[in-house]
Amino acid sequence: MLDNNVLHEKVKGILYSLTGITLAENKDIMISNRLHKLKRDTKYNGDIEELLDSIENGSFTMEFINSFTTNKTHFFREDFHFTDLKERVLPDFIKSGQEIKMYCSASSTGEEPYSMAMTVLETQEELGKQIRASILATDIDTNVLQYAANGVYRYSKSSKEFPEWIKPQKYFKKRVKKTLASEEILIKIKPEVQKMVTFQINNLNDSSYPFEKNHFDVIFCRNVLIYFSGEDQNKILRKLFSHLKIGGTLYLGHSENPHDLINYVERIGQNIFIKTKELH
Ligand SMILES: C[S@@+](CC[C@H](N)C(=O)[O-])C[C@H]1O[C@@H](n2cnc3c(N)ncnc32)[C@H](O)[C@@H]1O
Repeated sequence: MLDNNVLHEKVKGILYSLTGITLAENKDIMISNRLHKLKRDTKYNGDIEELLDSIENGSFTMEFINSFTTNKTHFFREDFHFTDLKERVLPDFIKSGQEIKMYCSASSTGEEPYSMAMTVLETQEELGKQIRASILATDIDTNVLQYAANGVYRYSKSSKEFPEWIKPQKYFKKRVKKTLASEEILIKIKPEVQKMVTFQINNLNDSSYPFEKNHFDVIFCRNVLIYFSGEDQNKILRKLFSHLKIGGTLYLGHSENPHDLINYVERIGQNIFIKTKELH
């Protein structure tokens, strides 16, 4: 039987090779908890060491990845990015009539791409003109992709998730779920918002992405780079950047930085970058 240190190093190695995620040193409790969850999810009868061997040999890789990703997100997280989208980016597309192509590169349970879609609908209504928009949302975790496509969320009345310029009742249907012990409010994203977003699996650690070069006008890459080493963050950013048009906007999470892109962008706000030239 391997001791915990060796077991955890093995987990870290597998996780890195499958996803590029680098787990920090102090993650022992988290690793133990997630290994137990993995064992439950896979209904594996043998011991953890054998389970890890079979993952290394190509079984249960999806379950392993889904157990080790961190999916924390909420609607309109870092809402100043959505304000920028509404006030600076979208009006230009209204004027030109061109389609805006947006990419959400780590969409988790869907709150981020649906916030992008609601921002489009809200801008359309405010400015009284249609916007042609497509939103591609990807993640490596198949559980969260399924959750996102389903589009049902828990809602708390005290929640401050929505900025004052969004009225959630316009975009969600509310349902109260009662059990003997409690009452829970569920909200389901309306079909007109849901149909604007396409969910798809993509591993940011892959050597290339299945999109055309200079395809997107807007890329959201927020709160995912923090799980990678500095060197790997840079590699991901370089790949993403090749799919962004010149003049397009890249939004990064609050504690993330643009690495090599810094000389090829103009920073116009809190982790808001406009691509000014190609990076070679
Ligand atoms: C903390 S969530 C951030 C969600 C959202 N972008 C936000 O800012 O609220 C990070 C997401 O990145 C995804 N992720 C982690 N590694 C990935 C990889 N190699 N490729 C694609 N997605 C990945 C996880 O599955 C998770 O859903």
